[in-house]
Amino acid sequence: MKINVYNTPTDDVKQHDIYILIDILRATSTITTLFYCEAKKVSLFGDIEKAKQQKEKDNNIILTGERNAIKVEGFDYGNSPLEMILNKNNIKNKEIIITTTNGTKAFQKIYEKGEVIALSNLNIKSIYEYIENKNYNNIGVMCAGTNNNLSLEDIYAAGKFINFFKKDLILNDSAKLALNISNQSKDYIKKSDHSQRLIKLGLIEDLNYCFEENVYNFFGKSKKGEKSMYKHIINGGV
Ligand code: MLT
Repeated sequence: MKINVYNTPTDDVKQHDIYILIDILRATSTITTLFYCEAKKVSLFGDIEKAKQQKEKDNNIILTGERNAIKVEGFDYGNSPLEMILNKNNIKNKEIIITTTNGTKAFQKIYEKGEVIALSNLNIKSIYEYIENKNYNNIGVMCAGTNNNLSLEDIYAAGKFINFFKKDLILNDSAKLALNISNQSKDYIKKSDHSQRLIKLGLIEDLNYCFEENVYNFFGKSKKGEKSMYKHIINGGV
């Protein structure tokens, strides 16, 4: 089994059987939570204006997202997973468009290369089970990072994911680094730059939620070339 980790979207991304997108704080945690809230589909946009144009065409669409962790003006919601849970009834069965500073931008780099799964600490085990079952042997793990810099919490989650695989592994250097970082305590990882930024913004509850592990047995997944993710459930439901 070959696993390459990419620290930021600026890395030289190779061709893989499948791609795992990681932006623990907070895009992929929010996407996972949107599916907990029974969103019909979640489309990942890089651009705020394009997202707004879609809403002009269809007013039922819900716009979510942030720039520099602050909700985009005119959007329905920001990028807070806990805000989604509070608004669960409005999200159920709706089409959601999400655009974020780093997470949905990193997605633009890989969605044309293959299937993409949004990984958060909340659902790592279910994603591992899916990959094992499908016998994929060459996985690309795209960490969103922050403004083209490595994010500790993304690398940590990448390492936690790799830890599940018991086969002989062929890892690139970033994947080896991720495995090492995954041995650190959560308290240490929560000292990361973006964690500190969220704490300063009064978002410590979001931070703690994003570090909960394996509470959901589903994930968001897009097909090759498609910008929309749909819920994929492992073992028959929650
Ligand atoms: C991002 O994509 O940069 C993040 O999800 C930022 C955040 O909302 O915390």
